[in-house]
Parts: sequence; C-alpha cells; structure tokens
Amino acid sequence: MPRVLDGKVIAEQVRENLKDRIENLRSIGIQPKLVVVLVGDDAASASYVRSKQRMADKLGMAGDVRFLPVTVTQGELIREVEQLNADPTVDGILVQFPLPSHIDTEAVLAAVDPDKDVDGFHPYNVGRYATGSPVIWPCTTAGIYEILKRSDISIAGKTAVIVGRSQIVGWPTGQLLLTHNATVIQCHSKTEDLRKFTLQADILVVAVGQAGLIGADDVRSGATVIDVGINRVDGRLVGDVDFESVQEKAGAITPVPGGVGPLTVTMLMHNTIELATRRRG
Ligand code: GUN
Repeated sequence: MPRVLDGKVIAEQVRENLKDRIENLRSIGIQPKLVVVLVGDDAASASYVRSKQRMADKLGMAGDVRFLPVTVTQGELIREVEQLNADPTVDGILVQFPLPSHIDTEAVLAAVDPDKDVDGFHPYNVGRYATGSPVIWPCTTAGIYEILKRSDISIAGKTAVIVGRSQIVGWPTGQLLLTHNATVIQCHSKTEDLRKFTLQADILVVAVGQAGLIGADDVRSGATVIDVGINRVDGRLVGDVDFESVQEKAGAITPVPGGVGPLTVTMLMHNTIELATRRRG
C-alpha cells in the first residue's frame, strides 16, 4: 500500500512556520494584510473567500473582502485594484476568479501591483518564474512543492509528468519542477497517447478536472501521484485520479479531498507574508 500524503497535516506544519514569521513581523509593527476582491454573488466563490478570511484571522493576519456587484464595469474594478495598490497597509491583493464575461481577466490581472500579486498571475511574476528567478509561485503549485518537500520526495533528476497546462496550475507546476531540476514532460488536451508519457513518471501531477482520467494502467509502479483535480460525481468529491485502483500501484498518492486542497489557502497566506516581508520587512 502506498503512502497517502495527508495535505491537512502538511498544511498545519506550514502554518506553524507562518505563525513565527507573522510574530516577527508584528514585533516590528507590521501586520500582513490580504484583501480579496469578489465580484458577484457566486456561492462557491463566497464560501472560498470566507475560508481565506477565517484562516487569515486565525493566523493573526489582517484580512478584508471588497464585494463588488456583478454589474461592475471593468474600469470600476480596475480603479478598486488601483486603490488597493496605493494603500500602504495592503500586502496582498487577490481578485477572485471567475470574473463575469464582460470583464477582461487579463487586463485586471495586469492592473494588480506585481509586488502585491499573491496569486502570482501577473505577467511580471510569471516572467520571473519562467526565467528561473521566482518571487512567488501560484498557490497550488507552491502547495505541491510543500507536499513533496515535507514528504522527503526528491525532485532533482526525476522524471516529472504534468497532465494539464493551465496558467493557474499545470504550467507553473511544470516550471517549478524544472526549476528544481526534474526532467519535465508537459502533457495537455492535444497530447497523443497520454499513457506513453504518464508511464514514465516518477512524479505524476494531474490537473485537468476530469474524474477518472488516470487509472492504474497509466501509472508506473512506485510513482508519486499528485492529484489536483476536484470533481463532483454523484454528490461526492473526487480527483482526476482513480484513487482506489491507483493506490495499489503508486508509491505515494494525495487523496481528494484532503491532499493538495488544504495547502492552497495556506500557501496564499504564505505568499502574503512573503510579499509583506519583501515590501516592508
Ligand atoms: N478561484 C479559484 N481559485 C482561485 C485562485 O487560486 N485565485 C483566484 N484569484 N481565484 C480563484
């Protein structure tokens, strides 16, 4: 049986470290502050935003949410972002996705001050990690790294196969593993014979959003399998990996729920503290 990599335990370890860093910042009069901008009243987004707020509070950070109506114009949203850019007490700005279709997401991302971009999605920050000198990594990618590092799974020299190339998870995760000297194969929806590649993986990261995409026949014996997918099937949350069959084959595997998910919000706090330290620490 493989090692099941428990994201809740690892996230708790990360938060213990963050508490010390927050304490150090507070001792010099700095309280790291994260502001989330939420457009519209999508219930899933609102619940996600509340969980961010609760975690910030629990860690002794400052948090705030700006609620904007779904009818907000692009100009109004960008002006809100610019006010946050100009506010010296704000360390991290997160504009919650998805945005309504009348708003150009790229333009909004580009309006966030790169020094306050906790998502790591601003073109400047993408350029930093693409050129091998990251300031921060996008939260999910950063969480995957914490899972590997804290589980003593080595990356350098290993073959890492990423299934998915999204700007939010797949592509930055490939860049992170490359930065840590893995040999990276980036697969995507146009990849022919996906199994040919996944069978080569020492580390297999799956971030597609398709339940059951990866089964036991797609996984090399002893591989580490990181499942980023979150899919609702018959009212149950499942990943992109068929956990039941793949756990017979893998050396280590993250469950869904309870694997990568718990790290994502924690790494958002980590990124806020990192940016606060860089800008005013
Ligand atoms: N919506 C769901 N996940 C995320 C995320 O990581 N960042 C932002 N900005 N919006 C999201």
